[in-house]
Amino acid sequence: MPDIDALNTRFGVTDRVTFARGPGALATVDITNVSAQARIALQGAQVLHWAPAGAAPVIWLSPTAKFAEGRAIRGGIPICWPWFGPHPSETTYPAHGFARISHWEVVAVESISDGETRLLFRLIPSDAARAWWPHATPAELHVNIGKRLSLELVTKNLGVAPVVISQALHTYFSVSDVRSVHVLGLDGSPYIDKVDGGKTKLQKGPVTFSAETDRIYLNSIGENILVDRGLKRRLRVAKTGSSSTVIWNPWIQKSAKMDDFVESGYVNMVCIEAANAADDAVTVAPGEEHRLGVVYAAEGLT
Ligand code: BG6
Repeated sequence: MPDIDALNTRFGVTDRVTFARGPGALATVDITNVSAQARIALQGAQVLHWAPAGAAPVIWLSPTAKFAEGRAIRGGIPICWPWFGPHPSETTYPAHGFARISHWEVVAVESISDGETRLLFRLIPSDAARAWWPHATPAELHVNIGKRLSLELVTKNLGVAPVVISQALHTYFSVSDVRSVHVLGLDGSPYIDKVDGGKTKLQKGPVTFSAETDRIYLNSIGENILVDRGLKRRLRVAKTGSSSTVIWNPWIQKSAKMDDFVESGYVNMVCIEAANAADDAVTVAPGEEHRLGVVYAAEGLT
């Protein structure tokens, strides 16, 4: 268990960067600067909250999220790594990999300016994780908290053989009502429809939501824009090192089966995930690295 006092002594900055033990005794770090406020759980290096100064929170965290060691937290920005979805061959291995249920150590905290705080985390694999993933591929996460929120997940291959990873930054965005928002930037993209037997289809126009949605958009490298007239907000979702985008909302029946969704919780969230999934899995050659990055920015709508 991380030593909160030691973290505050080493990395804390009065009123700016504060480590604490949060719900479920999980360690968290709160960041406040003139541009934004954020909270990150050290389990999973999972961003739980980000709100630009004077603006509404951008990231959704389930009101009934469970906070416990080794359990994925519902909401925020879970890191799916080093595999996305179920493990390709081992059904008992954790869904979406082990990064989100692992402890990440804090390597550095830096105030770039009054308005920007940069943090660096490194995944500490457990013995179980080493058995699931016997590869020398350290993972690091760079997080930049400011007017914009940026994350970069770096996978290095220190081994002698190529390693294939699939992954996603599984961001839950907060929305006024998923039934009235739309996502631009995927028009014309083929997608795998996971709620229709994995059929490949073609997106026509903006993505809208009227039922369970679980799609992997392929050949998708451009910016997506989440337009939310209810919140009078447009969210720009840009990414690098990713040519697939996952869009997910569990809708009524699926969310009712989950103990970490409140009834109607699905109405206030949508996941737009920068991914390397399906045929976009990445081969990292020995001595090389892969960088998966996102930048989020909120703009007012008039
Ligand atoms: C999405 C997947 O990325 O994550 C869905 O495409 C999955 O199939 C969802 O249901 C949530 O996964 P989990 O493991 O956090 O419940």
